[in-house]
Amino acid sequence: MSKRVLTGITTTGTPHLGNYVGAIRPAIKASEKDDVESFFFLADYHALVKCDDPARIQRSTLEIAASWLACGLDPEKVYFYRQSDIPEIPELTWLLTCVTAKGLLNRAHAYKAATDDNRGKGDDPDAGVNAGQYMYPVLMAADILLFHANQVPVGRDQIQHIEMARDIGQRFNHLYGSDYFTLPEAVIEDNVATLPGLDGRKMSKSYDNTIPLWLPAKELRKAILGIVTNSQAPGEPKNPDESHIFSIYQAFADPLSTAMMRSEFEKGIAWGEAKELLFGLINKELELKRDSYQTLMGNPSVIEDRLQDGAAKARAIAKDHLEKLRDAVGLRSLRHLKLLSAAADVGATVSAPLRIAKAPYFAQFKDESGKYSFKFFDGDGNILLLGVLFDSPRDAGQAIATIKQQKPLMTDGSGTLAMIDGRVVANLKLSKPDVQAALDLLHALEISRRNAAASRK
Ligand code: TRP
Repeated sequence: MSKRVLTGITTTGTPHLGNYVGAIRPAIKASEKDDVESFFFLADYHALVKCDDPARIQRSTLEIAASWLACGLDPEKVYFYRQSDIPEIPELTWLLTCVTAKGLLNRAHAYKAATDDNRGKGDDPDAGVNAGQYMYPVLMAADILLFHANQVPVGRDQIQHIEMARDIGQRFNHLYGSDYFTLPEAVIEDNVATLPGLDGRKMSKSYDNTIPLWLPAKELRKAILGIVTNSQAPGEPKNPDESHIFSIYQAFADPLSTAMMRSEFEKGIAWGEAKELLFGLINKELELKRDSYQTLMGNPSVIEDRLQDGAAKARAIAKDHLEKLRDAVGLRSLRHLKLLSAAADVGATVSAPLRIAKAPYFAQFKDESGKYSFKFFDGDGNILLLGVLFDSPRDAGQAIATIKQQKPLMTDGSGTLAMIDGRVVANLKLSKPDVQAALDLLHALEISRRNAAASRK
């Protein structure tokens, strides 16, 4: 069986080279394998936790979607959707919220860091912490559990979130007594490069040291020339393993070019020259993708169509799963339950309701001979009584009304009869309790309908 791999991308920023090397490129490559089903989604509900700028959320959604598509994500092969297009996600979030220990959320690293920080400053621990931040792990658990993801590739900072998703899923399974959720596993991509940024620290939005992925060639070159290096002169041998330029180079080059660059370093290549080679390499990899990115950015409705197609595909799974979950917790239609009225089966107790389908009903009809009659059905459409022939529809209707009110049922050797004024008006080979129960149920339903109508007035 193929395994499901799921990845969420928060829509708060503009993709940079670090995202490309660390997430986009390896994820797309992994999605091309035959034995995986990949789920990629834009985590825009998560984005709202940190960002209250609507234009930025929308812009980021567009840029990230265009980036993944431009980099070769195949929406036919994978599930590619926007979180907020799947209403089953917030719905599941609530079901999970109700089985999640508050203490578990208190221990989430991000939340704890925020409260510890506040305590350190002598503030109220929860100062400036919104409830979305607190609930973040539950929303993330819903993202993952809804689709039965087996694996979630994440950075180390997200491991705890996957563990919490497991805990929450396990607790639900235990409480409701079945394997409703597949328990996900975090996959840490250790062989994926973390790219150094302009200042040599890990390339990250929070350090403000990023190189945006889709800079035009000229600006990309300028940015690369601006990466900090030490003051070693041209001709002086340089240690590739201590150079940011080399580690970025390595992230884009094949092993042969990497080996050649290594020897150039040892021979004392000038920084300027090394940076030019680096630019050439990166630009070559991105050139065509950049064109398709620009084309997509100029056609946002094409991206929207892709996302809508993806949402429809994902929702087919989501709806089906949520239906089972709603049933598991007792959010169920009442149609499938027999109403227990005072008139119903005297032996029945409220704790053991009988399951029957829909309401029983009478249907009147005109016979081929031009006479009138009726049938009485249970909710599943099984016939319980068949009327005799009447001369007018009014007579047939009268008989129905009397049967409903007086329930004049008797048994003879062959089945159940309805008798009015000593005359058989309907019969069938059925036991009397079945017919009686259906009439009782119909009666109870009609009373409750009448009461409901009266209280609406
Ligand atoms: N929290 C993740 C991050 O910041 C984004 C995310 C949201 C996610 N839902 C997810 C990642 C589900 C994996 C699975 O990177």
